[in-house]
Amino acid sequence: MQKLGKYLNPVQTIILNRHSCRTFLRTTLDEKYRVRIQQLIEKPLTGIFGHSARFVFISQEEKSEKPVRLGTYGFISGAREFIVGIINSTEALLDFGYLFETLILHATDMGLATCWLGGFFHRSAFAKAVQLQPNEIIPAVSPIGYARFEQTIRDQLIRIMAHSDQRKDWQALFFDGDFTKPLTKEAAEVFAEPLEMVRWAPSASNKQPWRIVKQTNSIHFFLQRAPNYRSIYACDLQMIDMGIALCHFVLTAKALSLPGEIVKAQPEIPIPAGVEYLFSWQY
Ligand SMILES: Cc1cc2nc3c(=O)[nH]c(=O)nc-3n(C[C@H](O)[C@H](O)[C@H](O)COP(=O)(O)O)c2cc1C
Repeated sequence: MQKLGKYLNPVQTIILNRHSCRTFLRTTLDEKYRVRIQQLIEKPLTGIFGHSARFVFISQEEKSEKPVRLGTYGFISGAREFIVGIINSTEALLDFGYLFETLILHATDMGLATCWLGGFFHRSAFAKAVQLQPNEIIPAVSPIGYARFEQTIRDQLIRIMAHSDQRKDWQALFFDGDFTKPLTKEAAEVFAEPLEMVRWAPSASNKQPWRIVKQTNSIHFFLQRAPNYRSIYACDLQMIDMGIALCHFVLTAKALSLPGEIVKAQPEIPIPAGVEYLFSWQY
């Protein structure tokens, strides 16, 4: 797994500062930001589970002879530049979520605005712009640019409808020992902060599908899918959500110098219907 370089600010601050932005200034990025982003995505990146993803920066500058027309069905206003995420197997979705979120956090750290887009964008236009190969998939893209202070009405409505400024309570997400007992912040001890950072992760439609069980020496991550959600979209967006949660957890645990590593070690506990075990942090 590659390291993408250090963040300037504490990762917890960056995580809490990140918001989906759908209203951008109609300008392209300053050269210094463009260079930094190109450096970050120069080579394909490999995630914790060994899958790779490549990322391409594309610009639709008005002055260019053949401007690229990239559609977001009107969900995003003003954005001229995008990062496009590409994988070559659906097995890579967890790593993809992890890797793309590390980039999104780098952009946030630079003061830039982004928005995960997995549902509504013109896949064929983006595919053409990045010369997508037959075996490749674009699970998600993100505009990258400067946030406009005044949000469009559509932006405000999406945020209200998805309750984007809110997250589920701890008791709905985190459990102590097994799924019968909610985990308190006190019982989570040093892991309270990494878990709180998971809580503030972005997720498709803000569904927050992460369910986590803390045991004595491990923290187990499960996916609780929203009913009928998977069939709506071209990609398994909730698997990407789990990769994003993993990113927030691991980066925060490392920032706090907490010991541990990600392994597959399913605990022998009853698992509620519709819940799927994915991975654990063992320490
Ligand atoms: C995998 C993924 C896909 C998403 N797809 C879209 C999308 O297609 N359109 C959109 O407007 N927002 C999309 N979002 C953004 C979420 O709606 C947003 O993260 C959530 O409402 C929480 O708000 P916040 O990001 O401002 O914290 C997506 C987020 C994720 C993680």
